[in-house]
Amino acid sequence: MSAPFQAGVAVHHRCGLHPPSPAALEQKLVVSGGVALSGHVRISGAKNSALPILAATLCCDDASAISRVPDLLDTRSMAAVLRSLGARVEWPEGADGGELVVDASAAGAGPPCSNELGKTRAGFLVIGPLLGRFGEAEVGLPGGCNIGARPVDLYLRGLRALGAVVEMKQDKVVAYAAKGKRLTGGTFYLNYPSVGATETLMMAASLADGVTVLLNAAKEPEVSDLAEFLTACGARVHGAGTSIVTIKGVSKLHGTEFTIIPDRIEAGTFMVAASITCSKLSMSPVIPRHLTSVIDKLSASGCTITQTGRCSLEVSALKSRHSAGLRGFDFKTCPYPGFPTDLQPQFMALLCTCNGSSLVEESVFESRMTHVEELKKLGAKIHVCSRHVLVNGKDRGSLLFGAPVMAHDIRGGAALVLAGMAAEGTTEVLGAQHIERGYENFVAKLNSLGASIRRNQDAQLTLSSIM
Ligand code: EPU
Repeated sequence: MSAPFQAGVAVHHRCGLHPPSPAALEQKLVVSGGVALSGHVRISGAKNSALPILAATLCCDDASAISRVPDLLDTRSMAAVLRSLGARVEWPEGADGGELVVDASAAGAGPPCSNELGKTRAGFLVIGPLLGRFGEAEVGLPGGCNIGARPVDLYLRGLRALGAVVEMKQDKVVAYAAKGKRLTGGTFYLNYPSVGATETLMMAASLADGVTVLLNAAKEPEVSDLAEFLTACGARVHGAGTSIVTIKGVSKLHGTEFTIIPDRIEAGTFMVAASITCSKLSMSPVIPRHLTSVIDKLSASGCTITQTGRCSLEVSALKSRHSAGLRGFDFKTCPYPGFPTDLQPQFMALLCTCNGSSLVEESVFESRMTHVEELKKLGAKIHVCSRHVLVNGKDRGSLLFGAPVMAHDIRGGAALVLAGMAAEGTTEVLGAQHIERGYENFVAKLNSLGASIRRNQDAQLTLSSIM
């Protein structure tokens, strides 16, 4: 059975899907401040693994069963993209563990539904599997979060290195294999270790003739997870997780059963939730190794982080009579294994509540700063100079109090909810639909830990108060 989507919206004819109603476009969260959290939170499957792995099912001649796919607007959009290409996607309603069956045996080269493609940048990833399997692809330029220019030059140059002819036509990319129907292996140096470009090229190269070598490849755990999936489908991928990935093309890939890794960014967000509310939380499943840079910073700040099992962590920032609270710290976002850009906004919110001043440098996405002005509305004392940010802690003037704020992207939105939980009074977070693109059951999970967050879709009334 196909996945049912949100009720109350009109069916879009090609995707079999519903565009969001105007009311769903502006969602508001009302966050009560000053709460303490406790208990255990279950971490969902990684959004940024699930998205490329769903795209990779297009490489396969038969069905795959994928477990722990988080139920998110972004993964639903990707499922709609696959359906628009002729794949069968079964997403049983309410299935615990998020098991999805994708059968792309009857899929064609497309083009995919541009309406769904525009909702998530990850939709563009299908260009790799389509070129690999069918020798042709026509894909609209990506949408997604407003966090920087986010070009696709590396994807396109990489595909050309595999023998594709790539042409830009208005707002879409048309590409086809130059030599007959298949791409040919080649060597490609990424002048930046782009996650999406590495993933696209790994998928395309898996079905190319000959050997492809990717130099300066992205090393993110989600890239390794995709390589594991492709390998389970019969691909020959070596070196994923290092900067040199070698792919020996095969003629076809088959389906498989696969489980997505836990979401390190969701885990990191709940680690901040514990820290910013001076609480103690446990969480599982997690892969502690994926969180090394995060654990390092939180420990330096004064949090106690304990690995309580192979896949579980406990984070404690409980205040004792003698402790003066958490200390500020400096950090710079970098490709993995460096500090993740996807946790920069949440950590910036935390730094506002620490002692001392901290320096943050955003080196991955030049405009991932839209949360700064919103945090300032909550009383944060933050100064931005290009990619560098000075955050003054609570003893240097940042005293958070509730106010209406606007979420502009997934992680910035999560940061505002976290800041709202630490603030005095009530914080209204508008644009909360952005958060739901990337966090499964975010509000329900926080409330189950003791937070007090109410949903209110009738947000239009308060929009004017924050503009
Ligand atoms: N870049 C280029 N040219 C390209 C591709 C990327 O210059 O052709 C630049 C980008 O402009 C950016 C940097 O390289 O400055 C990093 O981009 P990358 O391609 O690595 O990121 P992505 O694949 O678009 C994924 C995640 C992001 C995450 C980044 C970095 C998915 C679906 N998205 O994006 O996740 O921030 O890697 O780790 O995997 C999020 O989850 O909120 C999110 C934005």
